[in-house]
Amino acid sequence: MGGTIEEDDSIVCIDQSFFMNDDYQLKTFTFGSQILQLYCLQSASTDFDLTGQLVWPGAMLMNDYLSKNAEILRGCSVLELGSGVGITGVLCSRFCRKVIMTDHNDEVIKILNKNVAHHSSDDSLVELMAEKLEWGNTDHLSQICEKHPEGFDMILGADICFQQVSIPFLFDTVKELLDISRKKKRHCKFLLAYVSRAKVMDSLVISEAIGHGLQIDEIAGSQTIVGNLQGRIYEITQQ
Ligand SMILES: C[S@@+](CC[C@H](N)C(=O)[O-])C[C@H]1O[C@@H](n2cnc3c(N)ncnc32)[C@H](O)[C@@H]1O
Repeated sequence: MGGTIEEDDSIVCIDQSFFMNDDYQLKTFTFGSQILQLYCLQSASTDFDLTGQLVWPGAMLMNDYLSKNAEILRGCSVLELGSGVGITGVLCSRFCRKVIMTDHNDEVIKILNKNVAHHSSDDSLVELMAEKLEWGNTDHLSQICEKHPEGFDMILGADICFQQVSIPFLFDTVKELLDISRKKKRHCKFLLAYVSRAKVMDSLVISEAIGHGLQIDEIAGSQTIVGNLQGRIYEITQQ
């Protein structure tokens, strides 16, 4: 039996496919001497968190820093959180031994895999891959750690602090990754390219890091304006 017009009007069924744009274009980015080509969009929907379909200012900040300090990556095993299209992980693959790019969004993982395939012939000695990892999800993390039992030298995150609710989970995962790596005798650190958009988030990131028993230090000289926003890079380590 049909409901009244008022009842029917209150039922709104819109799924992810309604917002989906996967018309990715190959775009060129330059960081110092490194020229990268990646498939990405120019704009994306925040509904269903499709933010990872494009390159964010924090990735530009992170990649500028890494390209100027590439020696910190040489021969390392790196895991990236919230990789989006993978611009940071792909840059790392020019210097690292192994790069695992991760994200929680299945659509974003598809474009990550497309960019992995596009770069697979860059250097056959480097392992570059994409994995599903939702912050706070212990099953996802266990699966990754089973595949990579040797731990990591560096955890990276670029422009991944934009939803307050996810920050405690982000630091749960970071803490776990740092602990696992320490057990494997690796002096792992988490580099976070942070873009300030709200004062409440500025404080939350610092308080959650400290609340998880971690030390958080701004890297000297890393403050810069990205777009029209203030960005900085934090080094987060175990105390
Ligand atoms: C603003 S985008 C930044 C993407 C990329 N790092 C960049 O700077 O271009 C944030 C990314 O974090 C991912 N993300 C958001 N919340 C997440 C969560 N709870 N677990 C894992 N990934 C998450 C999103 O899917 C998205 O790819």
